[in-house]
Amino acid sequence: MVMHRNLGPFDTTAIGLGEMPLTIENNLGWAKGIETIHAALDAGCRHIDTAWSYYCSGGEEQTGEKLVREAMDSWKGPKDEVLIATKVGHYRNFTDGVPTWGKDGKPEHLIRYAKQSAQTLGVDTIDLLYFHRPDPEVPYNESCEAIKQLLDEGVARWAGISNASVEQIDIARDVLGDRLVAVQNQYSPIYLDTQDTLEHCAKLGIAFVCWSPLGGFRKPKDESKFDPFREVAAAHGVSYQQVVLAWELAKGDHMFVIPGAHRPETILDSLNAGDLELTDEELAKLG
Ligand SMILES: NC(=O)c1ccc[n+]([C@@H]2O[C@H](COP(=O)([O-])OP(=O)(O)OC[C@H]3O[C@@H](n4cnc5c(N)ncnc54)[C@H](OP(=O)(O)O)[C@@H]3O)[C@@H](O)[C@H]2O)c1
Repeated sequence: MVMHRNLGPFDTTAIGLGEMPLTIENNLGWAKGIETIHAALDAGCRHIDTAWSYYCSGGEEQTGEKLVREAMDSWKGPKDEVLIATKVGHYRNFTDGVPTWGKDGKPEHLIRYAKQSAQTLGVDTIDLLYFHRPDPEVPYNESCEAIKQLLDEGVARWAGISNASVEQIDIARDVLGDRLVAVQNQYSPIYLDTQDTLEHCAKLGIAFVCWSPLGGFRKPKDESKFDPFREVAAAHGVSYQQVVLAWELAKGDHMFVIPGAHRPETILDSLNAGDLELTDEELAKLG
């Protein structure tokens, strides 16, 4: 069984599926996306992370949410057990011909995007709605007020924030109170800058969800950061990716990971990470 933890009021899996690679650039097509989500769910995964903005720059919007909806509609398992999280506040753009992520935290736009997300996901109420990324053009509390309004109106049940600093977590908590249940920040062996937010979440009793927990799907600049994980993996006879995820989950009971996958094989391997027990010596070596 995939490791379960409490994320706010949800009993869900500590390892979720990050949907992004299935619908942004270089995805392997719609059928592979459905197959990957079904494989994850069939293996016991109960947390899927998507976003309004998980589509190819210049292409049809919200394809990530559309894929998740189709996969859920066609899945025969217990749908009510699955936590579907989505995010608003980003959109895709081109900058000098390169696909990029635009920021839009204007309250009226967040409200419009979230209502579109609920409709696209085919739900009256989104389980968990994140504000995707601070917009430097909009005071942070004003974006958070829009998320609060969405909770008050029943468009979403629980709130999260993403790419947030300690100061922004405190602002969001002032606005959202206990309905703020998750902070989704980048965290991995090659990205430790968010350690302070991870510790702050532990103090506040808020879930910390690591994005790009394996360092992302692009080749990292410094591969050597994974060397100690490879050594531990060899001793256990598992992939080093499982060791990375197990190390992240060992940072506290409030820790969650959402590894991305382009295909069933990788998410199926990642879902085993909760069974991997690392010794104190191994954890000390990994840092
Ligand atoms: N909140 C935000 O601003 C934000 C930003 C970025 C990402 N995210 C979320 O975080 C999720 C994960 O991030 P990510 O997809 O960028 O990166 P990631 O999870 O760090 O890495 C994904 C890559 O790791 C590979 N992989 C996964 N499990 C593996 C395994 N067990 N063995 C070998 N390779 C494995 C995948 O391979 P294959 O390609 O071969 O399947 C994929 O290329 C996204 O899907 C998205 O939901 C959120």
